Amino acid sequence: YLPDEMDLGNAKHLIVVSNRLPVTISKDAKGEYHFKMSSGGLVSALSGLKRSIQFTWIGWTGFFIPHKDRPIVDKRLMEEYSCLAVYLDDDVADKHYNGFSNSILWPLFHYHPGEMNFDESHWLAYRQANLTFAEAVMSQVRKGSMVWVQDYHLMLLPLFLRAMVDGPESLGEATASEVERLQRGLVRGTDVPEKEHCQEIKIGFFLHTPFPSSEIYRILPVRREILLGTIQCDLVGFHTYDYARHFLSSCTRILSLPTMPNGVQLPTGAYCQVGTFPIGIDPESFVKGPETPAVSKRIKELEQRFQGVKLIVGVDRLDYIKGVPQKMSALELFLEQHPEWVGKVVLIQLAVPSRGDVEEYQNLRATVNELVGRINGRFGTVDFMPIHFMHKSLPFTELCALYAVSDVCLVTSTRDGMNLVSYEFIATQQERQGVMIISEFAGAAQSLNGSIVVNPWDSQQVADAIFEAVTMPQEVRAENHSKLFKVTSLAILPFNFSQYSFILLVRRKVFGNVLG
Ligand code: G6P
Repeated sequence: YLPDEMDLGNAKHLIVVSNRLPVTISKDAKGEYHFKMSSGGLVSALSGLKRSIQFTWIGWTGFFIPHKDRPIVDKRLMEEYSCLAVYLDDDVADKHYNGFSNSILWPLFHYHPGEMNFDESHWLAYRQANLTFAEAVMSQVRKGSMVWVQDYHLMLLPLFLRAMVDGPESLGEATASEVERLQRGLVRGTDVPEKEHCQEIKIGFFLHTPFPSSEIYRILPVRREILLGTIQCDLVGFHTYDYARHFLSSCTRILSLPTMPNGVQLPTGAYCQVGTFPIGIDPESFVKGPETPAVSKRIKELEQRFQGVKLIVGVDRLDYIKGVPQKMSALELFLEQHPEWVGKVVLIQLAVPSRGDVEEYQNLRATVNELVGRINGRFGTVDFMPIHFMHKSLPFTELCALYAVSDVCLVTSTRDGMNLVSYEFIATQQERQGVMIISEFAGAAQSLNGSIVVNPWDSQQVADAIFEAVTMPQEVRAENHSKLFKVTSLAILPFNFSQYSFILLVRRKVFGNVLG
């Protein structure tokens, strides 16, 4: 049942913008292009929404596509996926994605300033990419459009877009000159249509990562510009109340702007509303997955293979924020302190390759390989290895079966915007009712009542949690799982409630937090 006011059936034109398109494009040896829906967290979270309302999705193609091929790519993307491609030169794409986004904003937002490498040319590329994205959006907006910008790769886009749509003078003198400064040295697209100002568009921005404490955030050399870029939105959303609070205090301290618990007052009189919208998954495929013939066949095979063994599953992108080394150390401590469990507990750790061009990710890979080798060397036998480590991504059937046969899911992120793996695990566990151990530094920990919450830096605490999980009586597991499943099932609507309410707010600019 949906109240009338939530009916988005006749919503105005909606445009979603994210760094990546929801479609993976590849080119074969014959030069032919292939298109496949991607399966990442952001796509999964929005695909439920896509079933209930239509929108155009704008994003980067992922690699350089020569000019002559673009008309074919454009046609297929628009006709089959209602997507519009943003084309970036290799150098800009590299410095925007590997550089400013993933070597500056990503480590900073996850409290890893030590991994941060600031470089002027990366900042220039970030501005260039954001301008090119803004031009792509500009080609699609019409009066009353809602533009929904996703994540840290695009934090200047709202500012550039506002300047194009409403004219720089609408931003006030100081901000207009800031826009001019930020655009200095950038290449403008030639085919951007001139549009009349005052299109009355609404802009929303959602950050999928944490927003750090203002004490960390203020390390960023371009801290003012990034905030200024974002507050041009009608609504800025975060996963948790804490992230929103950190953002607001950064606006007060760095921009000296008056803030209220639900937003920022701009000098022009505009109000940027700020709220929390914890993202969920589109859980249907994970809830129903274990019953499908392919997955249930695989579950039986795995059950047979690991008979008499408690399985702990870890699924992470191989990223330093995921705390994989911390997880390994805690397992090592657990095995050391509970020798009776050696041979009876296995960690299956899937590490999905990620951002391999960034040095910190390469170093992490070496560290994790070494740890796996050391722990397996120490506790392994001819018949048994305590850690099964895979550095790859798995097809859905295999992933779903792996979640479903596991007794424990172990998430030890040192910081994590939300962590959707925990939701995926819970959704597949209707039968086994496995135990969720989650880091207190993952956004999801705030809502997953029924899990064991740990500090991943405290190896003893995590080792104790592993012991508690593998020895937990079935009735307690069942009781905990039913609480967890309730939270996950908030998303078991034909769309993701939280994201849906975000769009509603962008449209209506209702004050206050829909989720309370
Ligand atoms: C995080 C980010 C997403 C990003 C994803 C995968 O969840 O918030 O924006 O798409 O990681 O990372 P990648 O660099 O492969 O896009």
